[in-house]
Amino acid sequence: MLDGFGRKIDYLRISVTDRCNFRCQYCMSEKMTFMPKNELLTLEEICLIAERFISHGVKKIRLTGGEPLVRRDMQDVIKRLGRKVETGELDELTLTTNGSLLTEYAEHLAVNNVRRINVSLDILDPDKFAEITRGAKVAEVLAGIKAAKHAGIRVKINMVALRDFNQDALIPMVEYCAEEGHDLTVIETMPMGDVGADRKLEHISAQEFIAPLSNHYSLSPIEHRSAGPARYMAVEPLGLRLGLITPLSHNFCDDCNRLRLTTDGKIFMCLGHNAHVDLRAAVRNEGVGAVDQLLSKALKLKPLRHEFNDQLYGSAEILERHMNVTGG
Ligand code: 5AD
Ligand code: SF4
Repeated sequence: MLDGFGRKIDYLRISVTDRCNFRCQYCMSEKMTFMPKNELLTLEEICLIAERFISHGVKKIRLTGGEPLVRRDMQDVIKRLGRKVETGELDELTLTTNGSLLTEYAEHLAVNNVRRINVSLDILDPDKFAEITRGAKVAEVLAGIKAAKHAGIRVKINMVALRDFNQDALIPMVEYCAEEGHDLTVIETMPMGDVGADRKLEHISAQEFIAPLSNHYSLSPIEHRSAGPARYMAVEPLGLRLGLITPLSHNFCDDCNRLRLTTDGKIFMCLGHNAHVDLRAAVRNEGVGAVDQLLSKALKLKPLRHEFNDQLYGSAEILERHMNVTGG
């Protein structure tokens, strides 16, 4: 699949639920309303649509949310899509999770060909973790990460950079990741949805966020590229690979390879745009074949780049949609 700008699209991210057992301050408002259950795709519909995308050349699928593991019967989806890795139809099935349910799920993930996961973890300090997530327990997440590692799954920690909140936490996080053998990625906050806080105040560029690290460790850029938008630094002598996701300070849209399927059956072409096509009604009325036509429409709608900078600092409207609708 090629989009209107000639970019090859082979990566689908599926938000399997907008619900989450955490309420991270930068992601959600305290009182979130979630989609009514009857608007959600059924798990069967999710799998059918995913399979249709695979037949059009999607080689990598990431399950995200909300928290994907809070949706009941996720085992079945993981099993069904995991089989596609075995047959070679998919190169990779991955998951973005808050880690809280991994002790229960790690083994099932590993058995079903999920070899890498991303776990969101912004700070190790239990009190500050409870503050940022509005009540979650870091010990549960750390236990979940251990279970994943034990099951042989590679873990990448995602740490959202928050001004005046977790900059001091970077050194302990870097050391924890190096010791445990996890990769670490620092993510700039993106202005998505009203969370009841001033997005400008919390924002800090990844470059500024990691600057104090160089007082303790040597940082050097490395060439490594993944399928995603991160750029990488080597942190020595720890031997840690540190990724930086910099939507605001450094635009990376030129080689974007992804589409996003939301819980209620829309395909969003970009995290930062409202352009989308609605698959749910078409699939329910006309069957899964309807995906084909809408998909080619979607590809033409994919914008050249996001406009987060203009949304944060300029005149563009901040998106109404929260991150949990499309997944990170
Ligand atoms: N900006 C940047 N990252 C965010 N996440 C959630 N909301 C935002 C936001 N507004 C992150 C989560 C998780 C990933 C799915 O996206 O911490 O790591
Ligand atoms: Fe849940 Fe992830 Fe959003 Fe936190 S950032 S509330 S864990 S979806």
